[in-house]
Order: sequence, then C-alpha cells, then structure tokens
Amino acid sequence: MANIIVGVTGGIAAYKAAELVSLLGKQGHDVRCIMTEAAQQFITPLTLQTLSGNPVYTNMFQLQQNPEWKVEHIGLAHWADCVLIVPATADFLGKVANGLADDLLSTCVMATEAPVYFAPAMNDKMYQNPFVQRNIQILRESGYGFVDPVEGNLACGTSGKGKMASVEQIADVVNTLRPQDLAGMRFVITAGPTRESIDPVRFLTNHSSGKMGYALARQAAYRGADVVLISGPTHLAVPFGVTMIPVTSAQQMFEAVQAHFQDADVIIKSAAVADYRPKTVAAQKIKKTDGDMVLELERNADILAWLGEHKTTQLLVGFAAETNDVAENALGKLARKHLDFIAANDVSAAHSGFGKDTNQVTLYGADGSTVALPILSKDETANRILDKILEKRKEQII
Ligand SMILES: Cc1cc2nc3c(=O)[nH]c(=O)nc-3n(C[C@H](O)[C@H](O)[C@H](O)COP(=O)(O)O)c2cc1C
Repeated sequence: MANIIVGVTGGIAAYKAAELVSLLGKQGHDVRCIMTEAAQQFITPLTLQTLSGNPVYTNMFQLQQNPEWKVEHIGLAHWADCVLIVPATADFLGKVANGLADDLLSTCVMATEAPVYFAPAMNDKMYQNPFVQRNIQILRESGYGFVDPVEGNLACGTSGKGKMASVEQIADVVNTLRPQDLAGMRFVITAGPTRESIDPVRFLTNHSSGKMGYALARQAAYRGADVVLISGPTHLAVPFGVTMIPVTSAQQMFEAVQAHFQDADVIIKSAAVADYRPKTVAAQKIKKTDGDMVLELERNADILAWLGEHKTTQLLVGFAAETNDVAENALGKLARKHLDFIAANDVSAAHSGFGKDTNQVTLYGADGSTVALPILSKDETANRILDKILEKRKEQII
C-alpha cells in the first residue's frame, strides 16, 4: 500500500477531500494531509487528522511535529509515493506552474520526486480563463498528472465544466502506481449490451451490465496499457485513463471496432452484442392492437468472426457467455472464429455472469492451454486474463 499526501487547497470542494482521505484509508493507504491557509477556511485540520489518523500539516514555520524529519516539507516530500492535490484551486495551479513555493504545500510539491496529480475544481469561467488553461498546459507538459473536472452544477450557482472529478476517480490514480507491465501495449476492449431500436421508444437488449469489460479496461489501464473501451449503454463510471467510445447498436459497435482494431495489439470482445435487430425501425411509436404482433429480425454483423478473419498480429480474445455445454460451445467458438483465447463462463451460475461482481471463468487458448480460474472478483478475473495475454504476447515477440 502507498504513502499518499493529500494536499488540500482553498476551494469549496475541499469538503470532498475528507471523503477521499477516508476512502484511501479504507483501501489501506497511509495518508498525510497538508492544507493551505485558505483550505482551513473551508474544512478544519481536525477533520482530516481524525480521518487520516495522522497529524495534519498546515504551516511551514511551525515547530517540528515529527522529530525524524529535520525539515518538514522535505521529509514529507521524500515520504510520499504519490501526491494528490484535492481540490486544486486556480491560484495553486498558477503557483506551481510558475515555480512559486511560499507555503508548505507548494514547497513540498516542488521538492517531491513522487508523481503529483491535480484535481482542479472551480467556476467554469475561471477554468476557461486563458491564464488558468496556460498554467494547466505548462504543468501537463512538465509531467504533472490531472484528474480533469467534469460538467455539472457548480457551487456558485452556474453549471459547466469545473466540478471536481469524483473521489472514486481521484482515488483510482493511486492504482496506476502499480507495476506498469502492460506499458506500450494497445488494447481495444468492448463491453456492455447493445440496443436495437424497434421504434423511437422501444428497443431489444440483454442483461449485460458491462462489469467484466470495464474491469478488464480498468486493470489494463492501471497496468500501463493504452486502452480504448467501446461500450454499449451501462451505468458504470469510465475507468481512469481509458479512452471511452460510447455506442448504442451492434452496427455502431462494429463500426467503432473496425475504426480501431488496426492499431491494437490486443482486442478483447466482452460485449454482449445482439445477434439480431428489427428489420425495420418504425419512425413513430408502434400503436398496440388487439391481436398479437410479429417482429421480423435480421442478422447483425458477427464482429468477432470479422475480427478473426481480418486480424494480423493482434491477439484476439472472445468471451463465451453460455447457459449449457459451456466447454463444448466455447471451444467451438474459439476454433470457428480464429480466436487466440476464449474466456468461458456459465452465466446461469449463482456467482458468475450478468450484473454480478464475481465471475468464474475458464480460459481456453488456441495453443491448447486451459486455465480454470476459481470464483474471483471481476477485477481479479480481469488481472488473471491479462496475465495470460501478457505471457502470450511475450512468446509472440520472442
Ligand atoms: C466561498 C469561496 C469559494 C471559493 N471556491 C474556489 C474554488 O472552487 N476554486 C478556486 O480555484 N478558488 C476558489 N476560491 C478562491 C480561493 O479560495 C483563493 O484563490 C485562495 O487564495 C486560494 O488559496 P490556496 O490556493 O492557497 O488554497 C473560493 C473563495 C471563496 C471565498
């Protein structure tokens, strides 16, 4: 687990820093907080001290709190594995971008060799201000990380881009401190269900929640991969560091895959793509009648089969969500669609499949390998699948 400095500056979102400190603590990290003078107008050091279980540092010139550290800002700067500035005010961004160090936090940021991430939060007009944007640009170019603000209702009563990213997204940054064993690899991952319109208000879909695909995208990004996530409609947050391409129908997913597969080293197709779509989509809402109704369906493109035919050096991984004869059906699909791996799971089992947080997958390889994973969280399952992909990729390169 990591040593994390949460630097709190004087914005209205400072109260969310308390939630972040609590979350990081629950995840097992050792958290120490540094507050600017302005930050203490918004929340008290006592709150952060209680939630972190550590002293809170507020003043560069106060007498030492920890006798091990000769000079506090240097001691803290060395101690940290990661520094998160939450929230980052326009003022503080300007200060760091211009090399100023006139308080404990800015001095510590200047002295640390640990990765520093800013989570800006401010009024949308402030955020768009050319000086603020220039400072952000300078900081990005100098290697500082950002968890960008999002559009939303702002404390000043307006709405626009300036609302701080969620604390979960900010906490995710710490996960990127893991060994970057997938760095340099490009992944295209599909996830979620598709929706096939019947008329302007109705559609055909399935029970896929997208959790397995998002777990793969999240873990691959944590491990340094460059990830494009092509996702049907889900309720899940976009994982940190992932390029998201939202789609709705199977045809849109097919087009997005065609546009991105060439550049990929690995393609994982975990989306539950509709095999059929209504032959015609009514321009207006279909009115009910007294009798039954027949819906005529036509085939959607088979994206996985298309990829199997068109792949060159890409590793192609499919998923088989089955309710019966799991191994037989999965092995048939592996061969028929020219896959390198197929992850088979029984979606009718209690602990695996749609909407669940756990999965039990057996990974079959075109090389004859079989890895039967136990019941694991979808994130852990994703990591085991990624381990196997990495192993195969290394064999390919050698
Ligand atoms: C009520 C109130 C809310 C504020 N909210 C923000 C904010 O969300 N973002 C921001 O950049 N500045 C905000 N400010 C202005 C900062 O507090 C001010 O620029 C301060 O000097 C920042 O100091 P620091 O960067 O050292 O923490 C706010 C000020 C007040 C009075």
